[in-house]
Amino acid sequence: ALTGKRTNTLGLLIPDLANPFFAEVARHVEDRGQEKGFNVIMCSTDYNPAKEAKYISLLKQKQVDGIILGSGFYNDQMIAELQQENFPLVMISQEIPALDIDTVSVDDFMGGYQVTQYLLSLGHRRIGVIAESFQDNPANVRWSSKERIRGYREALEAAGIGFDEDLVFISNSTIEAGKRVAGALLDAGPHPTAIFALNDVLAIGTIKAVRERGLKIPEDIAIVGFDDTILATIVDPPLTTVAQPIRDMGYQAMDLLIEKIEGKENTTKRIILSPQLMIRQTTCPLT
Ligand code: RIB
Repeated sequence: ALTGKRTNTLGLLIPDLANPFFAEVARHVEDRGQEKGFNVIMCSTDYNPAKEAKYISLLKQKQVDGIILGSGFYNDQMIAELQQENFPLVMISQEIPALDIDTVSVDDFMGGYQVTQYLLSLGHRRIGVIAESFQDNPANVRWSSKERIRGYREALEAAGIGFDEDLVFISNSTIEAGKRVAGALLDAGPHPTAIFALNDVLAIGTIKAVRERGLKIPEDIAIVGFDDTILATIVDPPLTTVAQPIRDMGYQAMDLLIEKIEGKENTTKRIILSPQLMIRQTTCPLT
C-alpha cells in the first residue's frame, strides 16, 4: 500500500473469467495468496481499457499491496505510471518488451514451434492458424499469439515451407467467434489439412465449424489448441494441445509479487516456463 502500511491484500486483473485459462490462473494465484497470508481481489476487465483504469484506481483506493496483471492488459501508459510510483507489479502470461516489468509466462515461441513441427511430422503442409485478438481489431493481436505464430513460421521455414499469411486468421477469444472465424478460414479456398488454434477456446470453436461442414476430425482436418485447460479433455474427441504449467505460473507470479512487496527483489525478473505438447485425438497422420 502506498501509505507504507501493509494490508495483506492484492489485486488480480484478468481479461475474461469465462475463459477457463484465466479461471485456472485465478484459482492458483488465490490458492498461493492464501497460503502466504494474502487476500486476493479479483477483477475481470473484458479487454476494456476503461474497466482496467476503473479497477486499478479501485484497487489503489483499497490500498492493495501489489497487483498481478493477467495477459490481455494493454494499457502500457497505466503500467508506466504504476511503476513510477514503485507500485509492486507482476505480469502473468504476457511480455511487454518495451517495459521493464516482472513477468511469468510460458515459452510461447517454443510452443508454436513444437506444434508446427509435430503437424509437419504427420505430413501436414497447409496449416491454418486462428490467432487471438480482442475488440475485433487485427491491431490487437495478443503478444502470446504473435510469439506462437513466430514459432509456427520458423518451424515451417526450417522445413522449407514458406509462411503464407492468408492462412492466418484473427479472432476474439470466444467459442462463437472462433467458430465464425474458423468457418471463414475453411470457406476461403482449398481448406488446410490442419488448424492450429492459439488457445483451447478457439480450438473448440474450430471443432464446431469443421463439424458443421461435414468434415471429420482428425481424418479430414487435424486440430491443435493451446493451454490444456479443462476443455481439452472434456471435448469429443479429446483435444491435442499445448500444456501451460498454469499452477506453477500462478504460484511463481504470487511468490515474485510477495518478494517485491517485501523489498527482497529489486531487479526485474522474467520467468519463462516450458510448454508441453499433449497429443490426444484431434490429430493423426495425413492420409
Ligand atoms: O486466452 C487465453 C490465452 O491468453 C492463453 O493462451 C494465455 O497464454 C494468454 O495469452
